[in-house]
Amino acid sequence: MGAMVMESKIKPIYTREHIAQRLRELGAQISEHFEGREKPVVIGVLKGAIIFLADLVREIKSADPLQLEFVRLASYGSAMESSGVVQTPYLELPNLYKRHILVVEDIIDSGRTAKFFLDYLREQFDPASLKLCAFLDKPSRRVVDVQPDFTGFSIEDLFVVGYGLDFAEQFRELPYLGVYEE
Ligand code: IMP
Ligand code: MG
Repeated sequence: MGAMVMESKIKPIYTREHIAQRLRELGAQISEHFEGREKPVVIGVLKGAIIFLADLVREIKSADPLQLEFVRLASYGSAMESSGVVQTPYLELPNLYKRHILVVEDIIDSGRTAKFFLDYLREQFDPASLKLCAFLDKPSRRVVDVQPDFTGFSIEDLFVVGYGLDFAEQFRELPYLGVYEE
């Protein structure tokens, strides 16, 4: 099946312009949060957060330069369901002891990935502050107790793709967010 045929199964819900507008607001909120905090660190969770993080950090104004770090986490399972087990294909971070940390995620679904990583950071680095920013939140899907401090959009229980999010490793590059229908 060609890419054009595949794309016809995606119903756009947020355009590129709509996302850009929302990111300006999020950037302002995060800039306010970072005010007066020294040497803030932004940690992106690959792969899903790459597009969101790249756009978001350019909307953040901080007196101190932002430090960017990345980890890669995965909850392998089928294309549309996570397995519930968080895998850590890449978890190399410098010493971030007592730093101000903002974790950037693509989406909080069951919450397992975010909970795992926040607990890990608390344990490893005892951060001066630790916040979670998610492009998307699906609160109706939550199985563990975790709440983003900054949310791009809160959505229904729909499977979405684009703007970093994939279905079986496809569609991450789409500049908009859409609902994927099989
Ligand atoms: P968790 O269930 O909160 O741990 O989310 C695990 C991961 O599942 C997210 O980081 C996404 O990579 C993926 N995921 C959850 N919902 C969606 C979706 O609607 N589209 C694409 N990926 C999703
Ligand atoms: Mg995924």
